[in-house]
Amino acid sequence: MKPAGGAGVGGPRPDPADPSLHASSAGESAVPESAVDPGVDHSALDPAVVETPIGLVDLERVRANARGVASYAAEHGLSWRPHVKTHKSLAVARIQLEAGARGLTVATLREAEVMSTLTPDILLAYPPVGEAKLARLLRLPAPVDLKVALDSEEVLRGVARAAGAAGREVGVLVEQDVGLGRVGLAEPGAVARLARMAADLDGVRFRGVLFYPGHIRMAVEDQDAHLGLVAERVAATLDALGAVGLRAEIVSGGSTPTLWRSHEVAGLTEIRSGSCIYFDREAVDVGVATPDDIAYTVLATVVSTAVPGRAVVDAGSKALSKEVRGEGGGFGTLLDRPDIAVVSLSEEHGVLDLSGSDWIPVVGERVRIVPNHVCVSVNLQDHLLARDSGGHHLLRLEARGREPWTG
Ligand SMILES: Cc1ncc(COP(=O)(O)O)c(C=O)c1O
Repeated sequence: MKPAGGAGVGGPRPDPADPSLHASSAGESAVPESAVDPGVDHSALDPAVVETPIGLVDLERVRANARGVASYAAEHGLSWRPHVKTHKSLAVARIQLEAGARGLTVATLREAEVMSTLTPDILLAYPPVGEAKLARLLRLPAPVDLKVALDSEEVLRGVARAAGAAGREVGVLVEQDVGLGRVGLAEPGAVARLARMAADLDGVRFRGVLFYPGHIRMAVEDQDAHLGLVAERVAATLDALGAVGLRAEIVSGGSTPTLWRSHEVAGLTEIRSGSCIYFDREAVDVGVATPDDIAYTVLATVVSTAVPGRAVVDAGSKALSKEVRGEGGGFGTLLDRPDIAVVSLSEEHGVLDLSGSDWIPVVGERVRIVPNHVCVSVNLQDHLLARDSGGHHLLRLEARGREPWTG
C-alpha cells in the first residue's frame, strides 16, 4: 500500500497543493498566482484561432445558472449538492459552491478525489463495489465527510468492513428506485430494513435515503402523475423508516428535467441536479431552460457543403456523442438556428440537414451546436474553451477519466 499522496500508476491522489490541479500545463500565466482560478489557463486566447471541435463554455451563464438553482433551492428550504459528472471541473464546482451549493455529488472515485480538494462534503452517488473502489474511497482525505449511496447488504457490509479497518465512519444513504429501474430498492420496507442494518453496523452511519427520478424526461407540464408517484413512494419510505425507529437526516433527490418541481416531493431535503449548470437540448425541449440559459455548446467548423441540402461539420460522435434523447431526432441543434439539426454522425463528421432552412453555409464557417445531452459531450473533450468577461481561456477537466488505480 502506498502512503496517501503517493504518485505513480498505482494511484495518484490529487493534492490540494499540486500546482497541476490549479493551472493549465499550456504555458506560463501572466496573472499572479493568487488571482488564478483553479483549472483556468489565464493566458488569453483568440477563439477565432482555436482549433475545432471544442466545447465552449460561457462562464457568465454558468454563474447565472448556479445562482438560479441555488436560489430556487433556498426558496424551498432545500440544499443543493450538484452532481459534478456534468462538468468535471474544479473551476465550475467552485462557482457552484460560491453560489450556495452545500457540497458535491460524484459518481467516480476520481471525481471524489479531485472534488475533495474543494469541499469536505462529498456524496458518492454510486455503490462502491470491490476492494479497489473501497480502498480508494477510504484514502480520501480524513476531513472529508464521506457519504455513499447503496442498495444491498453486500455493499453495505463491504463499506462497513473497509471503513472499520481504516478507522473511519462512512455515511450511508439507502437508494430507493422511484421508477427508473436502474438501481435502488423498490419496496419501502426493504429500504427501511437496509437502513436499520446500516444504523446497527459499526463503521457506517445511516444518514438517509437517495433516489434519482431519471425516468421523468417528458415536458414539465406533463410530469404531474409521474412526480405524484415519486412523492408517494418517498412518503411510504419515510413512514417505513419511522416504523423501524429511524429518521432520514438526508432525503436526496432531484434531476434537471424535474428541477423546478423538486419541492413537490414532500420530505425532500436536497437536490443533486447536475446538468442544469450548462443545460442542453433536452432541457430546452422539456421546458426547464430557454436557449438563453444554454452555457455549453460545441464549437465546430463547416468542412463540406458538397452534398445538396446538407452541410458537414467537424464535430462527430467523438465530440457530440451519439446519445439520442427526446422526440426531436438527431444529436443536437445549432444554437443560432434551432431548426437545423445534426441528423447523422460519423466519428469526426456531423451532418446538418438544411432542408427547412434558407441558410447557405460556406466551408470554414463556424457554428455552435447544442448537444442532446451535455454531460456525455463534455466528457469527450480534453479541455473546454471558456468565455468570460475577461476573454477566452482554456478550462481543464481535472476530474475527467478514471486515473488508473492498482492499490
Ligand atoms: C444518481 C444521479 N444523481 C443526480 C444526477 C443528475 O441528474 P441531472 O443531470 O438530470 O440533473 C444523475 C444523472 O445522471 C444521477 O445519475
